[in-house]
Amino acid sequence: MVDVLLGLQWGDEGKGKVVDYLAEKYDVVARFQGGPNAGHTLVLNGKKHVLHTIPSGVFREGVINIIGNGVVIDPITLRREMENLHNAGVAFKENLYISKKAHLILPSHRYLDAVMEASKGQSKIGSTLRGIGPTYTDKIARRGLRIGDIFSADFGKRYNDLKADHLEMASVYPAVDFDFAAEDAKWMEAVSYLKEYNFVEGEYFINKLLDSGKTVLAEGAQGSMLDIDFGTYPFVTSSNTITAGVCNGLGVAPSRIGEVIGITKAYCTRVGGGPFPTELHDETGERIRKAGGEFGATTGRPRRCGWIDLPQLKYTIMLSGVTQLVLTKADVLNEFDTVSAATAYQYPDGTISEEVPYDMVNTVIVPQYKQYSGWNSSLEGIHNFEDFPQQLQDYILDLQAYLAVPFTMISVGPERESLIIRERVSV
Ligand code: GDP
Ligand code: IMO
Ligand code: MG
Repeated sequence: MVDVLLGLQWGDEGKGKVVDYLAEKYDVVARFQGGPNAGHTLVLNGKKHVLHTIPSGVFREGVINIIGNGVVIDPITLRREMENLHNAGVAFKENLYISKKAHLILPSHRYLDAVMEASKGQSKIGSTLRGIGPTYTDKIARRGLRIGDIFSADFGKRYNDLKADHLEMASVYPAVDFDFAAEDAKWMEAVSYLKEYNFVEGEYFINKLLDSGKTVLAEGAQGSMLDIDFGTYPFVTSSNTITAGVCNGLGVAPSRIGEVIGITKAYCTRVGGGPFPTELHDETGERIRKAGGEFGATTGRPRRCGWIDLPQLKYTIMLSGVTQLVLTKADVLNEFDTVSAATAYQYPDGTISEEVPYDMVNTVIVPQYKQYSGWNSSLEGIHNFEDFPQQLQDYILDLQAYLAVPFTMISVGPERESLIIRERVSV
């Protein structure tokens, strides 16, 4: 079975931490989409590690980690990540497998990302500028390079041809600073470095593992509201971040999917541009940002903060068929007298609805809030749900009743151990 773990908001829900925790129970952890726009943080023995392309199972001995065909790979960042892991003494090389069908991010994809974003002015997406959009564009346009191509005799020529295409496309935009000579050289060196790793026909590889009874945890990147089809378009990323993305990002059939574990923070954040109905532009938003350390793991940008949005969560739970929920960062709200949750939206014509509008960018919806008493106490040292302050228990049970899916895990700190398991996980 393939169980899935994915973010239900706009990313950074704490996926890395929870995958690292769960990885112990699985034989395989696999990334199925996204690329180095992701930043998944794990805190082990007080040391922080941030992963961008490598699955968050690498810190668990014996776990197989797969970078699936749906992922886009920048050899420069992947090499850097691998070197960081080596330097930290993590043995992962034997157990890391890369699908040959994963597409390559070229330096000229990053350049295109930069010139296109710069030309957008006010309507910037707020991209991480890792070349994600242009790389998936080339994949769909059927002219991309895949990582399996690095072994082909004419790879250098194909690289130069694609780069020339990119430069021509970029020429309609004002230029930005970019050291092509240095980036190209670094990229080619990184490609040589990667050649020693395990490249596989990912779809056969994973299906054989499944046939032999192995269990797989698929690790989502980004969040469901950044999904290319169902997110706050056009302020989205360029891949399918929902459960459907697992099937084409790994080559597994829908019938293989088991549990779908959705993660939400006890509040909500977004980094980059685009709609965010429950965003707090006041002191409370600032307090959450400070208490939660809400600064991007990839770009360091301050994250926008607001209250948890239940209609939004209901929407993403529906899209992914979520069977259990994880609540993270509950501890961040420890010192709030009251905590709010949006339960519906008021539309411009006055109607109240629990549905997300077609066009979140131009439809001004006003969230309707329910207020809860805060718990005003530390959660340190608590290992059981029943030992939580009553107010926190009430808050979680009320969210659960609204969302109609059980919260099976509650995270109360960045460390691997700070996770309270309530009931069913899987496997
Ligand atoms: P991801 O992209 O979903 O993996 O999440 P990020 O790593 O980008 O952001 C989550 C941040 O919150 C990281 O700094 C984590 O170390 C931290 N974190 C995760 N879970 C908790 C939690 O329950 N409480 C607190 N205080 N921090 C957490
Ligand atoms: P993880 O996996 C939060 C956002 C960017 C931008 C938009 C498009 O750590 O949760 P892109 O670089 O894909 O062209 O950016 O998506 N974004 C993320 N926000 N967490 C992420 O990943 C994100 N990956 C992309 O900020 O608004
Ligand atoms: Mg992140």
